Order: sequence, then structure tokens, then C-alpha cells
Amino acid sequence: MPMFRFLSFLVFFLYLSNFITTEAANNGSNGNITIKWDVLSWTPDGYVGVVTIYNFQTNRSIRAPGWRLGWTWAKQEIIWAMTGGRATYQGDCSHFKGNIPHSCVKSPTIVDLMPGTPYNQQIEDCCRGGVLSPWSGHDQARSKSAFQISVGQEGTSDQTVKLPKNFTFKAPGDGYSCGPAKIVKPTRFITADKRRVTRAIMTWNVTCVYSGARKSPAQVGF
Ligand SMILES: *[C@@H]1O[C@H](CO)[C@@H](O)[C@H](O)[C@H]1NC(C)=O
Ligand SMILES: *[C@@H]1O[C@H](CO)[C@@H](O)[C@H](O)[C@H]1NC(C)=O
Ligand SMILES: *[C@@H]1O[C@H](CO)[C@@H](O)[C@H](O)[C@H]1NC(C)=O
Ligand SMILES: *[C@@H]1O[C@H](CO)[C@@H](O)[C@H](O)[C@H]1NC(C)=O
Ligand SMILES: *[C@@H]1O[C@H](CO)[C@@H](O)[C@H](O)[C@H]1NC(C)=O
Repeated sequence: MPMFRFLSFLVFFLYLSNFITTEAANNGSNGNITIKWDVLSWTPDGYVGVVTIYNFQTNRSIRAPGWRLGWTWAKQEIIWAMTGGRATYQGDCSHFKGNIPHSCVKSPTIVDLMPGTPYNQQIEDCCRGGVLSPWSGHDQARSKSAFQISVGQEGTSDQTVKLPKNFTFKAPGDGYSCGPAKIVKPTRFITADKRRVTRAIMTWNVTCVYSGARKSPAQVGF
């Protein structure tokens, strides 16, 4: 069956060339994923921060079941609470009494909440099931995702805050590699009435770039 052979060869070749062009376009020229981490206020043993994920890629969306963001804490940090997102594992919080942390895992993985999350568990730009549109001139809100995090066992000065390490960003079927967190100019926030500007205490950015298709396209469970 030469025709069949020819067709299967063609299909294989098309598959391969598609793979190669995808690989070739992965030097960040099509944009990146930027993770911005703002420390907003101190708490008795840490801080409250907002983490925002921007999909600056013009040609690539993050599809359902959505992004998964990971990092490794530099010290013994824990997550007291989260709004607009959640850690996939709580881990071993057995030495806490009374207030039980949201997660005690050394390398937590965070996922977005689903649409329809009760309002008191939402923040702006959360709760779209981790789906992000490509960056475009219009509707940039759909290209970003945010969650609030209350970090404990961290200390309460910019001298004691240690940047999380080894960030990972995972999307269904797509691989990304992330650089180290870098301290940047603190974000300025302008109130809705534009009459007051506030400033983050500390801000760091992480940039992740597309690194090709992932070996295991299926993301099942945790
Ligand atoms: C990245 O890739 C694009 C398209 O393949 C190319 O035009 C561009 O020059 C490359 N940039 C760098 C810095 O290699
Ligand atoms: C990531 O993309 C944004 C938006 O295009 C750009 O401003 C920024 O410089 C990029 N970051 C890096 C590290 O390339
Ligand atoms: C991005 O997508 C547009 C529209 O689909 C296409 O015309 C363009 O060639 C793509 N650019 C790259 C660098 O892949
Ligand atoms: C980060 O990853 C590197 C390379 O895999 C590893 O050597 C290092 O121990 C990791 N750091 C932490 C804090 O886990
Ligand atoms: C950090 O990321 C934010 C959001 O993309 C951006 O506005 C800011 O310019 C970045 N800072 C640096 C130094 O890249």
C-alpha cells in the first residue's frame, strides 16, 4: 500500500515540521509569562501579598484545566491563608495548634479557583479556572490572574523576607522554564477614583518562557 505509506509519511512530516517551528519560536520573542509578587502589608509573623500572573504571550493561551504555579520556600515559611487561589496540598501542619495554616508544604503548588467561587473568597482577576487569554490590545484582564497570600514564619522586615526559589509554571500540554525572582521597583497602585497612590512594600518579578510541548499532555488530579 504505497499510498498509505506516503500519507503516513506526510502526516509524520507535517507533525515534525510543526514541532520544529514551535520549538524555533521559543526564545521569548512571542512574549513571556511574568509573575509579579507584591508584599502589601506586614502581619505579626509575615506578610500579606498579591501574586499576579501575566500572560504576555501574544500567540499562546493557557487552556483548561489551567495554570499551576509552584516555588520552593527559602526558609520555613507557611501559607496561613489564600484568597482567589489555593494550594493543592496542605502538607504536615501537625505542630500547629489553634490556627491551622492553609499549607505547610515546602514546595507548594497553587491553582486558580473556579468561576462561581463565593465572593468572599475572590479577589480581582481571580477565579477563572486558571485559563489565560493571549495578550492583546483589548481585554487584557483575561490575560492575567491573581491571588492573595498570607505568608507566615517569615519575619516582618524587608531584611527577613527571603525570595522564594525555583519557580515553576505549568500549563496543560505546554512546558515553561522560569528564571529566578528579581527584586524590582515596588508596584504603585492607584485607587479607583485616581485620588490616591499607594505603594507595595516590596515587589519581585519572575519571568517564564515557553520551552516546548510537554511530554505528558494530560494533567490529571494533583
Ligand atoms: C527569536 O526568534 C524570532 C523568530 O524565530 C527571531 O526573529 C528573533 O530574531 C529571535 N530573537 C533572538 C533574540 O534570538
Ligand atoms: C516579558 O514580556 C513583557 C511584555 O512584553 C516585557 O515588557 C518584558 O521585558 C519581558 N521580560 C523579559 C525578562 O523578557
Ligand atoms: C501569531 O498569530 C498570528 C495570528 O494567528 C499569526 O499571523 C502570526 O504569524 C503569529 N506569529 C508568530 C510569531 O507565531
Ligand atoms: C533549586 O533547584 C536546584 C536545581 O534543581 C537545586 O539544586 C536547589 O537545591 C533547589 N533549591 C531549593 C531551595 O530547593
Ligand atoms: C515586573 O512585572 C510587572 C508586570 O508585568 C511590570 O509592570 C514591571 O515593569 C516589571 N518590572 C521589571 C523591572 O521588569
